[in-house]
Amino acid sequence: MANSRKSLVFIVFFHLFIQISSAGSYNVITFGAKPDGKTDSTQSFLKAWKSACSSLTRSTINVPKGRFLLTAITFRGPCKNNNIIFLLNGTLVAPLDYNALGDSGYWILFTKVNGVSFIGGNIDGKGTAYWACKGSGKKCPPGARSITFNWASNIIISGLTSINSRQTHIVINSCNNVVVKNVKIMAPDQSPNTDGIHVQSSTGVTISGTTIKTGDDCISIGDGTKNLFMSDIKCGPGHGVSIGSLGKEVNENGVENVTLVNAVFTKSDNGVRIKTWPTPSNGFVKHVVFENIIMNDVKHPILIDQNYCPNNQRCSVQGSGVKISDVTYKNIEGTSATSEGITFDCSSKSPCSNIRLQDIKLTYKNKAATSSCKNIDGSTIGLVFPQSCF
Ligand SMILES: *[C@@H]1O[C@H](CO)[C@@H](O)[C@H](O)[C@H]1NC(C)=O
Ligand SMILES: *[C@@H]1O[C@H](CO)[C@@H](O)[C@H](O)[C@H]1NC(C)=O
Repeated sequence: MANSRKSLVFIVFFHLFIQISSAGSYNVITFGAKPDGKTDSTQSFLKAWKSACSSLTRSTINVPKGRFLLTAITFRGPCKNNNIIFLLNGTLVAPLDYNALGDSGYWILFTKVNGVSFIGGNIDGKGTAYWACKGSGKKCPPGARSITFNWASNIIISGLTSINSRQTHIVINSCNNVVVKNVKIMAPDQSPNTDGIHVQSSTGVTISGTTIKTGDDCISIGDGTKNLFMSDIKCGPGHGVSIGSLGKEVNENGVENVTLVNAVFTKSDNGVRIKTWPTPSNGFVKHVVFENIIMNDVKHPILIDQNYCPNNQRCSVQGSGVKISDVTYKNIEGTSATSEGITFDCSSKSPCSNIRLQDIKLTYKNKAATSSCKNIDGSTIGLVFPQSCF
């Protein structure tokens, strides 16, 4: 009895020892990557990934200081372990040539991975030439998102700085349990479609402590997003935090249980916006809270736009089918850059319901801003300026 217990204890410790000693650490330099910003290091990164991904225990990929040139790269799972840490001290750089990333629409792509942390570092999407192409009316490739997680779970992105993405900086699509924290995102005010973070078809995403200055939405929320929590967000310049655009398709998954708390918007086009196309859809938006928000010179601080039809496209305005309900705006104050601080342009087909305004104070040129309402049913609590139009 005593002996077999001893050997059991031994076996347990032996396994623990094996696990600790075999926790792999892979430095991309040993796989041939060059920190000179010029040599294509894509294959070296893929080899490091292959080792980390086939390791039976947790593993770390080290990217030391320096600039590493990467073309389009896919880190593919599933892996043999569910704890891979990318430790970035250096900068990942995209090629200058806007054709060099091909037509996939992705630069750095993680797909079907479980338990990946992307810690620290910088990624530089080198978007300038691509934006110029878009602006010139020439034929351009689709443009690449800088870093994307598709069909992934248990992901952490922490301490990353992303600059000048050709298109959206960070995309979380069809994921489960994702933490984005202490991230900085920067692209020029006029750079087209450089959204900061896009979340779509994902459950349990948390975004906190993040500063976004960009040319499109700071955070955009697509259909099928559930249980999204955002806190301590600084946005602007940019187009604000947007749920949508939704309802372009007839069959769409809804957006449900979204919270934004403690945010500051500065000189952004919008603050908190919900936008849908004016066409039939079975989509919905429900259980949304926007709370403790400061607006500094924001063009449209509070906006529901169910007639979204950008760039003079000929939309057939049939009334949006997307049903918006149970949205709370609480403790929002600051300055509007236009006279109308609150705009609720809801659908005639599917009016907004159960919208709450609580403790709002928005001014325009030191006077109360105005508000406008269409097809909406709501209530107010506490002091609300501008007076609600419910
Ligand atoms: C690399 O980054 C990690 C975390 O960001 C940090 O703890 C570590 O000291 C850095 N190492 C070097 C060599 O800079
Ligand atoms: C709503 O989302 C939060 C995360 O933001 C989560 O903790 C909570 O359980 C969700 N509520 C429901 C009813 O699923």
